[in-house]
Amino acid sequence: MSESVVTLEVFRYDPDAEDRQGAGFETFEVALPEGGTVLDALITARDEQDPSLTFRHSCRQGVCGSDALFINGRQRLGCKTQVAALGEPIRIEPLPHRPVIKDLVVEMEDFYDRMDAVEPYFQPDDPPPDDLEERRQSPENREAIKKSARCIWCGACTSSCTIASDEDVYLGPAAINKGYRFYKDQREGEKRAETRLELLTQQDGVWRCQTQFSCTTVCPQDIPLTEHIQELKRAAVKRDLSIW
Ligand code: FES
Repeated sequence: MSESVVTLEVFRYDPDAEDRQGAGFETFEVALPEGGTVLDALITARDEQDPSLTFRHSCRQGVCGSDALFINGRQRLGCKTQVAALGEPIRIEPLPHRPVIKDLVVEMEDFYDRMDAVEPYFQPDDPPPDDLEERRQSPENREAIKKSARCIWCGACTSSCTIASDEDVYLGPAAINKGYRFYKDQREGEKRAETRLELLTQQDGVWRCQTQFSCTTVCPQDIPLTEHIQELKRAAVKRDLSIW
């Protein structure tokens, strides 16, 4: 297989280092086989040139969501981005609007807190009479949640949203999409759907979205996040009008 050399400009920073290694970029030249990804390039740079180069990764196939990075000015998954599709040098930075722990690793605690806030787990109104009883979902309902269920918690969307980055109270697109996934799941029941809508349309929920579409643009799973947020807004208006 043919190889080519790619040039990376990688953000380096270690706040704990004695000399407080500055927030600058370091250039790496790495040889990669055809079809190599940005994550492959980072792994090669670390293994062959500098073992202190720090970044997260796990599955290497777009499933775990741990290698969301800011690559050539846009949030992308390192393992799903082929170097051949990018202009060189390839500039690799940590996700914007997150405190940097080291090099390309950012603090995700706040992101997980927001995800937790929408109770991202199945909670039916009525538990099944028998623990072993299967709770079936209609094909139509599965289709309705299909796209929202693709989320891999990478945080790319929330990092791209200027409202989510300015205000740590806003739930942000990932958490709202996760809530939407369960709000739409008819197996939970109508009462739970009302509670979920209430939660998602609270002061720090969907109404803070200004339809920037950046979340939808960068989502590596092609989830129509903005569309889901707008659907929740419409559902809330409908709910409120029916009171009158
Ligand atoms: Fe798991 Fe990229 S390494 S999504």
